[in-house]
Amino acid sequence: MNSELKQWPYDGAIPQRFSTNYRRYKERGGLVELAEDAEAYAGARPIEDVPRLMFLNLIFDQIRKEGICGDFAELGVYQGQTAVLLARNARRLDRTVWLLDTYEGFDDKDFTGIDVATDKLFRDTSLEAVRRRVGEGHARFIQGYFPETAVQLPGDGQYALVHIDTDLYAPIMSGLEYFYPRVIPGGYIVVHDYGSLAWAGAEKAVDEFFADKAECVIHIPDSAGSAVIRKARAPGQGPTWLAARQALAPNEWHLTGQADLGTVLTRGWSSPEGWGVWGVDAEHALTIAPPPGEALTLECDVGAFLPPGGTSRIIEVSINGDPAAIWRFTPEQNNGIRELQLPPGANPCSIAFRPREAGRVRDFYPESKDDRPLGMALRRLRLRAAGA
Ligand SMILES: C[S@@+](CC[C@H](N)C(=O)[O-])C[C@H]1O[C@@H](n2cnc3c(N)ncnc32)[C@H](O)[C@@H]1O
Repeated sequence: MNSELKQWPYDGAIPQRFSTNYRRYKERGGLVELAEDAEAYAGARPIEDVPRLMFLNLIFDQIRKEGICGDFAELGVYQGQTAVLLARNARRLDRTVWLLDTYEGFDDKDFTGIDVATDKLFRDTSLEAVRRRVGEGHARFIQGYFPETAVQLPGDGQYALVHIDTDLYAPIMSGLEYFYPRVIPGGYIVVHDYGSLAWAGAEKAVDEFFADKAECVIHIPDSAGSAVIRKARAPGQGPTWLAARQALAPNEWHLTGQADLGTVLTRGWSSPEGWGVWGVDAEHALTIAPPPGEALTLECDVGAFLPPGGTSRIIEVSINGDPAAIWRFTPEQNNGIRELQLPPGANPCSIAFRPREAGRVRDFYPESKDDRPLGMALRRLRLRAAGA
């Protein structure tokens, strides 16, 4: 069998949000500044591991999207290549990043067991050089041998992302033992070198540590085969990130055609079209998580697809399965604001709009290419608190 890999003939690809859809990504408030972050990550050298950069970028995006709280930590900083990324995104997300290293390379104490024959690598760095590269904002540098330096971390620390990159069995195991209980549900632990076959201690520490945990390892195709786990969360405990995104700010209009209401508009809607969104099919539904304890009215800026010839349409509205309203749309009274009283204490509120008939545009306008069975158009939503 040939063990030599012939020249790799394929070009790499990067996630579409950072390439063809980058403009859309930024319009939706995307966190990552691709070129600047890549330059900071590369430093003076060309980027060796683009998948690693992309993988970390996606983690920052997901932490933001899911609202995962907690600080960042890196154990194994060396010259600060990955620390730079963690720090840039800690600033964007208003977190602290804790950066732990000897800043003098491997410590002899860790040259035991599987790592007994290891060289004293990574000495060509210093705390001052890394501090200059990473910057001070939102970054805390802890110099010394881990786990002895763990006492310098905040006793009540909680982490959204822990990046362990110390190569050797002992510090990886100590890092997992220290940080795992402090990573919040949904948070990330990334261990570099897990699958590289270069650092046997990394694979051993991760396999042993997670053997009896709820989480399993996912192997990432960056050059060192990083391992990632996400801390498990107990089902039904507390609001999920999805519910957090369904919590519309009271007394503010939310535009369905522009804002990212994809988690609120749960099913039966066409793509947002700038002005708003069309409900299609037999039922269009949305789910919101109202703030507790308030009497709330949901104002819906709506209209219905009315075929030519003076036709009117009826749309039945239910809240959490109970009939809530029957809305009649006529040529004289079509577009405008209609109100729904939300049952007190109902959380979440799932609101379904069911047209008694849906009209396929093409059936009434044969020249149209629009084949959608249109029901109700939704432009804006506002949760109005009593007295507002
Ligand atoms: C591979 S380098 C880190 C590379 C860095 N994350 C990057 O991507 O550029 C490994 C680092 O782990 C640090 N390290 C290893 N064992 C350690 C220990 N027990 N305590 C503190 N730092 C340690 C070394 O000093 C070295 O800087």
